[in-house]
Amino acid sequence: TKKMILDLDTGIDDALAMALAVEDPRIDLIGVISSYGNTLIETAGQNSLDLLHLLKADEVPVYLGDSHSSTTQTFETMPISMAIHGDNGIGNIKLDPATRKIEDQSGVQFLIDAAHQYGDNLIYLPTGPLTNLAAAIQKDPAVAELIGQTTLMGGALTVPGNVTPFTEANIHQDPEAADFVFTHQKNLTMIGLDVTLRTLLTKKHTKEWRALGTNAGAQYADMMDYYIDAYDRLDIDHRGAALHDPLAVAVAIDPNYVTTIDLNMRVTYDRNSGDYGRTIGDNQKLLDSTTTKVAVNVDNERFVRDFQDFM
Ligand code: BDR
Ligand code: CA
Repeated sequence: TKKMILDLDTGIDDALAMALAVEDPRIDLIGVISSYGNTLIETAGQNSLDLLHLLKADEVPVYLGDSHSSTTQTFETMPISMAIHGDNGIGNIKLDPATRKIEDQSGVQFLIDAAHQYGDNLIYLPTGPLTNLAAAIQKDPAVAELIGQTTLMGGALTVPGNVTPFTEANIHQDPEAADFVFTHQKNLTMIGLDVTLRTLLTKKHTKEWRALGTNAGAQYADMMDYYIDAYDRLDIDHRGAALHDPLAVAVAIDPNYVTTIDLNMRVTYDRNSGDYGRTIGDNQKLLDSTTTKVAVNVDNERFVRDFQDFM
């Protein structure tokens, strides 16, 4: 089994990613780092604890990462994120509170220590901004070489963004950090909107979760229905809601879900430019070798079917 660290801005689809990582026997989830984005960091951290409790995985520790981007002093969540994920990040569902508390150690230090301890056997999986990985590499540059595989949800190469025509939400939160990660981190796979927007879940699926008769099945169905309704209400997609974050977990376990291209990447971060936060190939390094892969196609039928079987 591979060790995995999730870095979540928990978040409804982050909650789905967590369920997959907890349940898959090929993965040993050694910790969850909390990030900001869909909600504030404290809320994301508490959501992660409560969801782990719901999933009967209270043994997994939760750490707080950095609470805002490297270039801002504070963070306020975007109205669009609250509309999609609810005021509390998880569709305004009330979960039983976990008794376990957030760890004292910082998420960034936890990641650095794990990179040294597990090296090649470690999968780091961020489904929010890339602030924590950038901070870890800045503190300890060895991290960029040590982590075996980093599979991130974020960015958009071949389709428009979901915050601006060029920018996807996770990258939008901290483009400087994202550019630093893309230009430093080895063995990076980008799972962006190119593929995640093709993986749609519907109320037909959540009805089956409810029919399981479990507390987790019912709570997850309520969360997911909120998210599906939001996609419909906000005219994002009337057919269903995207499985952004769980697809990244699935690809980390089985890369065959997606087709990738090898490409050195940059992220633009000039605030005066219209394409602020764009994920794009590095025209200075088109002939250089790379360990960065960008997913451009997905076997969405197989993924959605397998995801449903899992839940
Ligand atoms: C990403 O942004 C967040 O809203 C989702 O959780 C996902 O990680 C999609 O752009
Ligand atoms: Ca997320």
